[in-house]
Amino acid sequence: MTKRYITTAIPYMNGLPHIGHAMDYCLADVCARYYRLLGDEVRLQAGTDEHGGKIFQKAADLHIPVQEYVNNNTNLFKEFIAKLNISYTDFVRTTDEAHVRRCQKIWEKLQDHIYLASYKGWYCTGCERFVTDKEVEENHGVCPDHQKPYERVEEENYYLKISDFKEQIKELILNDKLLILPEFRKKEMLQLLSESPDVSISRPKAQLSWGVPVPNDDTQVMYVWIDALSNYLTVLGYPEKDISEWWPATAQFVGKDILRFHAIIWPAMLLGLGLPLPRTISSHGMILSNGQKMSKSIGNVIDPIEVIDRYGLDAFRYYFLRHIDTFADSDFTWTKFEDAYNNELANDLGNLVQRLATLAEKNGITIEAITETNLASGYRELMEKYEFTRAFDYIWEKVQGLNRKIDEEKPWALAKNGEKEKLEICLTNLIQKLLEVNLMLSPFLPDTTNKIANIFSGQVLSPKIPLFPKK
Ligand code: MSP
Repeated sequence: MTKRYITTAIPYMNGLPHIGHAMDYCLADVCARYYRLLGDEVRLQAGTDEHGGKIFQKAADLHIPVQEYVNNNTNLFKEFIAKLNISYTDFVRTTDEAHVRRCQKIWEKLQDHIYLASYKGWYCTGCERFVTDKEVEENHGVCPDHQKPYERVEEENYYLKISDFKEQIKELILNDKLLILPEFRKKEMLQLLSESPDVSISRPKAQLSWGVPVPNDDTQVMYVWIDALSNYLTVLGYPEKDISEWWPATAQFVGKDILRFHAIIWPAMLLGLGLPLPRTISSHGMILSNGQKMSKSIGNVIDPIEVIDRYGLDAFRYYFLRHIDTFADSDFTWTKFEDAYNNELANDLGNLVQRLATLAEKNGITIEAITETNLASGYRELMEKYEFTRAFDYIWEKVQGLNRKIDEEKPWALAKNGEKEKLEICLTNLIQKLLEVNLMLSPFLPDTTNKIANIFSGQVLSPKIPLFPKK
């Protein structure tokens, strides 16, 4: 049995879960469920990023002890992941004692590539990133993402020698040994890599104490990204356990805003540890509202919980996985969402199921469950390139095709004319095709496809309430 490891980015615990966080979870979950459908054994990691200045500051502003603050937020994220029906197997908190201990061991293993030097430059706490003079100049001293002036820092830091690994990383990316998706981001990352200096990987405790202590130096804590990236390994037990069954990861899902950390620092850490690089890092775009970034001040923030509570989880997953593009920035607006719900989920899929189930129930049709996992090659190809929106389009063409086929074959006319045998063949054939489509749809809409499989197993029983009641 093939073993696969799939990961999600671990969100900062400086606020509530928002709609953007759902993206990593949904994509990774589809990927995990797809491979399970093929019979592979899959571990799917999720977790929370709890250290760093941003979180420390937020807790201080709210006058809540920082540990209590991250505990509360972690609980909210766990609820959110459960609400999205994410099939994760492993959960890591960066404040877990085991994570901290393993992270320190990772640091020690990287020792040969770490040196101490003084840093004079800029930092953005919002981005949790050291910023170059060039960027500060280009942005006139203010971070465009956080609308806050960059902070001037002068401190003694440990550095990771990116220079030791640059050539190797470049080769691996160029040859797709580390596949960066989408393709056009690859060039961007190669450019950043070529310009990347050695990176600072610690902060003096005097400036920031909320982090993993650097081993053998009680004046420093690790830079939050070293701590955070290590999660992908520590959750598997590394370096205390042999992880070769699970590592390298099949796919790591991240947003485009954090691809740079995963394409430069992360490969350097892995090479420094003597570990192989992940097979694929897939980066998604941002979720916008009417083309704009969602922000509290504009008042266009969409609460994912409200969407799920009003329309159901699979309606949310549907929109997210079909209409929010896997790779590009995409819009979430209520109008677009409601149109997709009524015109596609209710009209195409809901009606298809209702029509076939009603006809089959009336005519006493019995269906044998499909035992073979017979997945169309066109679908498999797209899924294995992580082209989830395109795979979803492929499935939807089949759903619409089946509706057309019913119209052409008019089973109701066969029933009316008493052509029982023909009717049975016609309905059984249509239902078998629906069940094949249902299987392909199952990584995307687990609840709905479960319900559909139940309706058509054995004696068909038409659902009393439509799967997607029109709103
Ligand atoms: N803590 C880091 C990740 C560390 S991974 C070793 C972080 N956290 S985050 O909370 O800012 O973002 C978590 C994930 O959510 C990232 O993949 C990010 O791209 C994604 N999103 C956050 N806002 C988003 C949108 N508006 N749209 C889509 N995804 C976005 O970065």
